[in-house]
Amino acid sequence: MSGIAMTKAAPAGEPLLEAAGLAKHFPVLDGFLFKRRVGAVQAVDGVDFTVHAGESLGLVGESGCGKSTTGRLVTRLLEPTAGRLTYRGQDITHATRKQLAPVRTEIQMIFQDPYASLNPRRTVGEIVSGPLEIQGLLTPGARERRTRELLEIVGLNPEHYNRFPHEFSGGQRQRVGVARALSLEPKLIVADEPVSALDVSIQAQVVNLLQRLQREMGIAFLFIAHDLAVVRHFSQRVAVMYLGRIIEIGDRDAIYEHPRHPYTHALLSAVPEADPDDDGRERIRLAGDVPSPLNPPSGCRFRTRCWKAQDKCATDEPPLVRLDGDAEGHLTACHFPQEPTVADRGHDVVLDPALAALEGTEPPREPA
Ligand SMILES: Nc1ncnc2c1ncn2[C@@H]1O[C@H](COP(=O)(O)OP(=O)(O)O)[C@@H](O)[C@H]1O
Ligand code: SF4
Ligand SMILES: [Mg+2]
Repeated sequence: MSGIAMTKAAPAGEPLLEAAGLAKHFPVLDGFLFKRRVGAVQAVDGVDFTVHAGESLGLVGESGCGKSTTGRLVTRLLEPTAGRLTYRGQDITHATRKQLAPVRTEIQMIFQDPYASLNPRRTVGEIVSGPLEIQGLLTPGARERRTRELLEIVGLNPEHYNRFPHEFSGGQRQRVGVARALSLEPKLIVADEPVSALDVSIQAQVVNLLQRLQREMGIAFLFIAHDLAVVRHFSQRVAVMYLGRIIEIGDRDAIYEHPRHPYTHALLSAVPEADPDDDGRERIRLAGDVPSPLNPPSGCRFRTRCWKAQDKCATDEPPLVRLDGDAEGHLTACHFPQEPTVADRGHDVVLDPALAALEGTEPPREPA
């Protein structure tokens, strides 16, 4: 592993990024000549979380619950509607492009689709060295050396510097995206479903690579996934989102072994599609789709799908609080939470045996 990329790690455990009441509402316009605002998609509606230096915070939830919007708010690709965003103590909520410039190099993003996010007409070397060039860092020769080193760090052959994205497999392209994200030695990487588009066997390898970067380079991650199994193998803490809100957050073991929110229970007991044996354990099937964020349910947003809902749930929004008996930092937003312990939960959540098998081991490199 190269020494260069490890020089800038922030002290582990310090708050790096803090979101408070962060919200994004997309206006819905109507009318032909004169556009009128007729409503708003409440994609993210007041979320609080902190990512500490060197840690991985997992953000999970069904499609449409606001994960990507949260990721794009954090990287300031989107302007927040409300709330506050602080990076290393500096308020960046409405920072201008110029004010943001130094922060932009420290926060990088990896996207879901390695096909769409790489320019097909540029070589892998040009793609990975692009951010260094834009920032005017290093001489051309040093940039090339640094880029070859980055390719090696992510498990690619540095000799393939002059190849084009189409000459690589999906997993290798995602590695190119990772190398590019590493080029400016970031402190925080927002990874939006970085393995969702990949084959299961390749997923495990890329997750493993990211895990290694987190551990060895001390890079913090906001790791977005709809699959709780992937997050479990990567994140020390997990936040569960539903319809623009965080409904439960806590240390990994608290969330997986002592979940309190009915929605978290439902996500954890989702039946793996390829699970051939029904072992008789209780499975919760979530009925219906996520309601529209244009007009979310009153009170608790999960109440239209919740088997524990009572009258209070329609009128009073449950606050995100620590419940009796729960560990510090484990917060739940529910009036009638589940019992703290679920037997055998640990066995339920391993949706992906390939990931489980690889946990803690170094995966074989993909053939170049
Ligand atoms: N630019 C946009 N304009 C309007 N609505 C949007 C926009 N981006 C996302 N949304 C809506 O916001 C909600 C949350 O989307 P998203 O953050 O992509 O969720 P996720 O990543 O969890 O699937 C969805 O209902 C989506 O349709
Ligand atoms: S507050 Fe009520 S509706 Fe919401 S999750 Fe808890 S029990 Fe279900
Ligand atoms: Mg998304």
